Amino acid sequence: MATTTGDGTEHWQRFAVRFEYPVVFTEGAFEPQNEVLAAALARLEPDRRQRVLAVIDAGVAQAWPELAGDVERYASVHADAMQLVAPPLVVPGGEAVKNDRAELERVYRTLHAARLDRHAFVVIVGGGAVQDMVGYAAATTHRGLRVVRLPTTVLAQNDAGVGVKNAVNAFGTKNFLGTFAPPFAVVDDFRFLETLPARDRRAGLSEAVKVALIKDAGFFDWLEERAAALAAGEREATAAMVRRSATLHLDHIAGAGDPFEQGSARPLDYGHWSAHKLETLSDHELRHGEAVAIGMALDARIASTEGSLDDASCERACGLLERLGLRLWHDALGARDGGRLRVLDGLDEFREHLGGTLTVRMLTAVGASRDVHEVDPALVEEAVGWLRARARGAP
Ligand SMILES: NC(=O)c1ccc[n+]([C@@H]2O[C@H](COP(=O)([O-])OP(=O)(O)OC[C@H]3O[C@@H](n4cnc5c(N)ncnc54)[C@H](O)[C@@H]3O)[C@@H](O)[C@H]2O)c1
Ligand SMILES: [Zn+2]
Repeated sequence: MATTTGDGTEHWQRFAVRFEYPVVFTEGAFEPQNEVLAAALARLEPDRRQRVLAVIDAGVAQAWPELAGDVERYASVHADAMQLVAPPLVVPGGEAVKNDRAELERVYRTLHAARLDRHAFVVIVGGGAVQDMVGYAAATTHRGLRVVRLPTTVLAQNDAGVGVKNAVNAFGTKNFLGTFAPPFAVVDDFRFLETLPARDRRAGLSEAVKVALIKDAGFFDWLEERAAALAAGEREATAAMVRRSATLHLDHIAGAGDPFEQGSARPLDYGHWSAHKLETLSDHELRHGEAVAIGMALDARIASTEGSLDDASCERACGLLERLGLRLWHDALGARDGGRLRVLDGLDEFREHLGGTLTVRMLTAVGASRDVHEVDPALVEEAVGWLRARARGAP
């Protein structure tokens, strides 16, 4: 809708763009008879043979040595729907790939050499870091290629890979460069989780606990009941957890009125103001999910000391994280600079990243939360001491 002022000096531009994409849960996405990927590629142009570049996380390629061949075989069986423009490109996995400009450049070069246009596809098979980095490259190539994500970690399947964001790190700042770019489709293939190292599998459970803590007490109860099965990576419990967590994240993006995060509130970033800082302070020794577990415990303790959360709920939150095999301490949390806890810089960085006023989600109960605009450094100090003592087994 456009309106013009009486004297014609102002034109008020307004339009809405509708985004939609399928998120499909499956097993064995590259088995020749599995139609999910071919159908996803064909969803807007059923009669077109889509041009596709597949990019594979090196960790996945190593765990699944047949994968590149399987992708090629899948493309030939579904040749009516797709055509690979080049053999699959393998990029290193893990956070390092978001720090490495040379890898980003290599992806851009490959996209350029393959002459992918805005209707062509990049199919990304990998963890959250590879999804973020290749997603960023694809989003900024010709102002946005079509992306189909096949997330291969728990965290990428239950959170990072189903949403609308991508990013790389720069100047020592996590996710400094990035865009909002809804994918064309997402295919969560549970089979990939079979080869995920236990450490990464457990780290991914953090984001499920997070979304349960801030919005779904029933899901939190469910996670408590299945903590042992989830910690052990039991298949059915893991698949159910991924589905529920992904759905809660997706519902939030679609239903909370701010999919591209233009306001200052960021409920899905519960526990993240310190987590992002801890990742950097630990030199990325901490996985994202591990840092989020510590960050959530820290904020739960802050809320209970402050009196907005009851102690029993704080204990339930911390206890569940521990039973899932997540540690609630890392020395980076105690790091100081001239006496001041370095993690406190995370508050400033979080505010800068959000823009506007500092807005941090705090729990009021298990399954309920609110935004606060101030975090008292003295309470952070107290909570850090409490977590240190807890990790040492102090009563
Ligand atoms: N864009 C978003 O909305 C969003 C949300 C949350 C987190 N993230 C980002 O996601 C990243 C973390 O992602 P992650 O937890 O998936 O870890 P990751 O991508 O760092 O992967 C961890 C390790 O697992 C390997 N790997 C991946 N899949 C495997 C498989 N199936 N079998 C064996 N090895 C496998 C990788 O090679 C890597 O070494 C962080 O950079 C975080 O900032 C992004
Ligand atoms: Zn996160």
